[in-house]
Amino acid sequence: MTNFQIKRVTPNDLDELQTISRITFHETFAGDNSPEDMNKYLDEEFSAGKLNKELKDRNTQFYFATLKNKIIGYLKINFGPSQTELQNENAVEIERIYVLKAYYGKNPGQLLYQKALEIALQKKVDFIWLGVWEHNLRAIHFYKKNGFVAFDKHLFKLGDDDQTDIMMKLSLDHKTGSVNSDNSRS
Ligand SMILES: CC(C)(COP(=O)(O)OP(=O)(O)OC[C@H]1O[C@@H](n2cnc3c(N)ncnc32)[C@H](O)[C@@H]1OP(=O)(O)O)[C@@H](O)C(=O)NCCC(=O)NCCS
Repeated sequence: MTNFQIKRVTPNDLDELQTISRITFHETFAGDNSPEDMNKYLDEEFSAGKLNKELKDRNTQFYFATLKNKIIGYLKINFGPSQTELQNENAVEIERIYVLKAYYGKNPGQLLYQKALEIALQKKVDFIWLGVWEHNLRAIHFYKKNGFVAFDKHLFKLGDDDQTDIMMKLSLDHKTGSVNSDNSRS
């Protein structure tokens, strides 16, 4: 059994976070976007200044997935006012789960997701939500198999390109600390 670890990212890990963020975003979306849009997005969203601010935000947490101390993926989760939309106190947002392509289907994605679920249950929120690009079929399937259902759409800007994200949510039963059975509809 491969021994993946999940560990909290601290402000001291800024360089490593920037590196894995840029590599995984590029790996995922470079094939579907112009180099100009991609570079603009990478420079704006993963600048040291922006990531440093996010690492110090008490309403955002990052976690690395590691294998033998090599960082192979990460999770970014937002609470309260730091959610990119909704800003509902009774919800948490999974803004990003990104794993290196070489590790797709090998469990770190699922472990990062389980960390997000554990945090959401601890916080006793009503639901977890996220936005995922409408053509990102692998990720949509991943979230569906974990019980998420689509509930809306929103605009996502990659560089100068307007794209559509599907918003998905998973209801939680914080009385029993479990996922609600009505999530299995999709
Ligand atoms: C999203 C992500 C974390 C999921 O981790 P993963 O290890 O790839 O997930 P899994 O392999 O467990 O699940 C993916 C599922 O999609 C299926 N799948 C793969 N390609 C697919 C496609 N083109 N269409 C539909 N389903 C597809 C796989 O068969 C698998 O389903 P199964 O377990 O029922 O066979 C990972 O793919 C990733 O990091 N992607 C890039 C970043 C990203 O898109 N993040 C999501 C936005 S935040």
